[in-house]
Amino acid sequence: MTENLNKSITERKRTEYKIRERVKELTCLYGVSQLVAKTDANLDEVLKGTVDLIPDGWQYPEITCARVILGGKEFKTDNFAVTQWKQSSDINIGGQKLSALEVYYLEEKPEIDEGPFLKEERNLIDALVRVLGEFTERKRAEEELRKYREHLEELVKERTSELGRKAVELEQANIRLQEMDRLKSVFLASMSHELRTPLNSIIGFTGIILQGMSGEVSHEQRKQLSMVKNSASHLLSLINDILDISKIEAGKVELTLEEFSLDDLAREVVETLSPTANEKGLELMTEMPEGVTLSSDRRRLKQILMNLVSNAVKFTDRGSVKIAARVTGDENLEVCVIDTGVGIKKEDMNKLFQPFQQIDVSLTKKHEGTGLGLYLTKKLTDLLGGNISAKSEYGRGSEFTFTIPLRYEEGN
Ligand SMILES: Nc1ncnc2c1ncn2[C@@H]1O[C@H](COP(=O)(O)OP(=O)(O)OP(=O)(O)O)[C@@H](O)[C@H]1O
Ligand SMILES: [Mg+2]
Repeated sequence: MTENLNKSITERKRTEYKIRERVKELTCLYGVSQLVAKTDANLDEVLKGTVDLIPDGWQYPEITCARVILGGKEFKTDNFAVTQWKQSSDINIGGQKLSALEVYYLEEKPEIDEGPFLKEERNLIDALVRVLGEFTERKRAEEELRKYREHLEELVKERTSELGRKAVELEQANIRLQEMDRLKSVFLASMSHELRTPLNSIIGFTGIILQGMSGEVSHEQRKQLSMVKNSASHLLSLINDILDISKIEAGKVELTLEEFSLDDLAREVVETLSPTANEKGLELMTEMPEGVTLSSDRRRLKQILMNLVSNAVKFTDRGSVKIAARVTGDENLEVCVIDTGVGIKKEDMNKLFQPFQQIDVSLTKKHEGTGLGLYLTKKLTDLLGGNISAKSEYGRGSEFTFTIPLRYEEGN
């Protein structure tokens, strides 16, 4: 009976002891988790706090000491000493063992689960290094983020001041550009006068000589004077094109709006170009509704049509050139200039409407030109509120189509 009672008392005491030990361990773990959970906790504080909490979690607090070494710093309990009774666990940081947590007994104690230490104390030390490892990792990530953020702020400051500088430079460049643009206009205006006047007089006087008004002209002289006159005319038309383009590009063009009939305009174009077409044996025809009137810039529309039809005649050796016009449902005039000429290769189509682009050099040697015609034509159709496009089949012919509003209105 007494034996049984004694047994049960011992049993109870052992259980009580075990419970006390678990409570100590849990208290330690709880203490550490509280340290870590503080939002402003820094790494040094947590490591020192942890080693200080350790003794109370072990079986013999008064002879327990602990230490952790991390990043060249050592954190230990005040009573710390290295002895042969040691329990330790590695701290893993970012997958690397960078440090270890060590617990020592300062005196010898009887051997139990792991030297003088309990199996539960092994579990506790392992749990502690996990917590410390995760915390260190988090702190390092935060630190990196902070550095990155600072760097970013610096970068933003730097860029902002750079941007300010650039804006000033840009403004200065803009002022210079405006001045240059003004000088260009002045230059072009004077050039227009200075170049056109002598050219007109060359063309005029060679014309008079050719007509024999200033005496007999020999066959050879006639031939050479004709060359002079042709070259001068060519130069004059080139200068006119360049001037037109620069005026349009500088936004200095004023449209002269008037009411006019499409029939008359088309007739003028055909009359001007039919001598060349006849010489080449080409049929030049029109196909358009009668009585169409437009309110637009007549001279510029004629220029567009002249450029397209003269190209068609120039790049066609046999067959025909047709001007087909119609009024579309949305009050636009659509004009197609269709030829049965040399055509344009697919890969060359994107060169059309670009300045100084002559596609077939061998061809253009045969035909004179500068490659400004289509570029100017596109600018002119834009100017009249329209657009232009081209289709072609190499070796068979081309079709250039432009559309402009029947009645030009500001802003369209
Ligand atoms: N109807 C067409 N058929 C075939 N090729 C064409 C036709 N119209 C234009 N091209 C091609 O496009 C190029 C550019 O035409 P554009 O009218 O701009 O120049 P150009 O007629 O050669 O010279 P410019 O018109 O300045 O006197 C021409 O050189 C030619 O190669
Ligand atoms: Mg041309």
